[in-house]
Amino acid sequence: MKILLTGAGGQVGTDLLPLLLGRGDEVAAFDIAPRPAHCPDAVQWVQGDITQAPEVNDVVRAFQPDRIFHFAAILSAKGEQIPHRAWAVNMDGTRNVLEAARQFGVAQIFYTSTIAVFGDGLPDVVGDDVPLQPTTMYGLTKVAGELLGAWYQQTYGIDFRGVRFPGLINAGIPGGGTSDYALFMYVDGLRTGAYESFVEADSKIPFMYMPDALRAVLELSDAPRSALTRNIYNIAAISPTAEEIADAVRSRIPGVNLTFKSDPVRQAILDSWPEVLDDANARADWGWAHEFDLEKMSDDLLPKVKALIGSSEGGEPVPA
Ligand SMILES: NC(=O)c1ccc[n+]([C@@H]2O[C@H](COP(=O)([O-])OP(=O)(O)OC[C@H]3O[C@@H](n4cnc5c(N)ncnc54)[C@H](O)[C@@H]3O)[C@@H](O)[C@H]2O)c1
Repeated sequence: MKILLTGAGGQVGTDLLPLLLGRGDEVAAFDIAPRPAHCPDAVQWVQGDITQAPEVNDVVRAFQPDRIFHFAAILSAKGEQIPHRAWAVNMDGTRNVLEAARQFGVAQIFYTSTIAVFGDGLPDVVGDDVPLQPTTMYGLTKVAGELLGAWYQQTYGIDFRGVRFPGLINAGIPGGGTSDYALFMYVDGLRTGAYESFVEADSKIPFMYMPDALRAVLELSDAPRSALTRNIYNIAAISPTAEEIADAVRSRIPGVNLTFKSDPVRQAILDSWPEVLDDANARADWGWAHEFDLEKMSDDLLPKVKALIGSSEGGEPVPA
């Protein structure tokens, strides 16, 4: 299978590349960033700008992928700082990918949406079809991307499918996002023995451990179209409170001091997100089931964070 991965240099793409190679896919990467040092040799890296249709057309024409995994995006916090660039990357970029797929006969586009498509006033458990009324540039462009892809499927027969990721957790140093308090408890818990979360102890949002997120991408991409009843699926894993995450860390790092002091700005963003996702459609249609609960994730994550801190000697924050 030939797969073109846009945004391959990001948090998710970096972890997905070795999995694709491992199952025998031929992989090309398209990213505005230069080829990273850690990129496997087998990956064909094309540096380009997703907002420029000719650059997208060139890579799709030359590589002729069976599927495009479209990950390139400007995410939530940055999207509010550079909203017009976020519009260009998330909207024009997605249209360019869909247009290239139409012109050059790509069978499937896989889209990575987000829980940021939801807005205020949500029910306690949020299903696929609640009204989507996001208040961020990131959220609104992802809603439009979901709808545009469905239109390309309906109009041109391109197979368009994707997931709404919860906050993703992997072994990295957090870079300033609203859900970073979770990973910081592990990272600073190990690094300094203490961390003060910027949210209330009872704050609760959906999270997913990266290995589950990557498996969701591969499983939905491989599912027979006839089994799918929709284009975009909620996928859920865990929805721990901040206090429950702290307890998981405390039980693994004796003596760690984890406290809470809410920052009103970030608390307000967090409070507008869903607490719990309903992913019944994903479970029914393509057999989605998460593997990592809070305990299993903590067991797997801590040694990896420890190794990361060791390798970077306590390290400066890097974008997560
Ligand atoms: N990480 C999460 O917690 C999370 C949660 C929900 C949804 N998602 C979605 O998953 C996808 C991947 O997220 P991520 O965390 O890897 O994001 P990321 O910010 O780490 O990576 C995005 C990548 O897109 C590239 N990019 C940006 N502008 C570009 C342009 N003009 N042309 C080409 N490439 C460009 C960047 O260089 C970067 O490598 C995104 O679509 C995102 O919306 C992620």
